[in-house]
Amino acid sequence: MRVFIDCDPGIDDALALAYLAAEPGVELVGVGTVYGNAAVETTTDNAVRLLRLYERPEVPVAAGAARPLVQQPSLAAHVHGANGLGGIEVPAVETSPVSESAAELLVRLARSAPGEICVLALGPLTNLALALALEPRLPQLVDRVVVMGGAVRAPGNVTPWAEANVNNDPEAAEAVLGAGFDLTLVALDVTMRALATEPWLEELAALAGERAGYARRFLDYYVDWYTSVLGRRACAMHDPLAAAVLLDPELVTESVTVPVRVELSGTHTRGMTLADLRPKPEAGSREPVVLPTEVDVSEFLSRMLRALR
Ligand code: BDR
Ligand code: CA
Repeated sequence: MRVFIDCDPGIDDALALAYLAAEPGVELVGVGTVYGNAAVETTTDNAVRLLRLYERPEVPVAAGAARPLVQQPSLAAHVHGANGLGGIEVPAVETSPVSESAAELLVRLARSAPGEICVLALGPLTNLALALALEPRLPQLVDRVVVMGGAVRAPGNVTPWAEANVNNDPEAAEAVLGAGFDLTLVALDVTMRALATEPWLEELAALAGERAGYARRFLDYYVDWYTSVLGRRACAMHDPLAAAVLLDPELVTESVTVPVRVELSGTHTRGMTLADLRPKPEAGSREPVVLPTEVDVSEFLSRMLRALR
């Protein structure tokens, strides 16, 4: 499978990269970066360092958007630390990002291999929206898109109604969800149930090797923050779950296929993802997307451990 990852590493982005980098059947064709968990300069530097750590230094990294299409950016240093990786220092490397932007790289790759590239979007959707503006045929040029974002029947995580990646750039998310991609939206509905809990964290701690060692240190930081949200030592594996669903769609045990929109105004609800859950959505309404509602969490967590081994 040929995969382009758009991300904002980010602790859980870093784990998603580890997951796909460990998979022999995955060819990482490019990584785009975006502001989100940290400024784009930081997420770009992290992506380059992480790909080296995961022994994929040849993968081109393209810096993407520094801000959302319309609103001001809001970063998440309180969740991921000032360096985006919980203050853990991953060794610096000589490699530089390529000169193209993330949107330009994605469009070039998609045009050069029509129908072959899958896109995994793990941050705000600004780069994908910019790529659509450059190439409106992008939905026909890529194979599948898996997005980690949104909260349909689950509460939000940055406002009561909105999830961070969508809330960071609602206009971009609305453009991507309405573009007609073959798209799976891995929302908080399932990611807030894909929890790494203490027994799993202990199994991770028992693994030898650099990859597992870094994962454990990233997660120590992330779990400290998540404990205040969950009331116990655990954390939500948002981005790794999206990576796993891209790789193994059968991890999704239940889903609905529905049109999803993003609230762009709303007194309290800007950034909310709204699905038309009626049995017969409005005729002429937008292309539906797949919204997983149940996933095999224990299988996902064992695959995650295998990847970090
Ligand atoms: C999403 O927001 C980011 O903080 C995480 O990396 C994940 O992509 C979860 O809402
Ligand atoms: Ca992310």
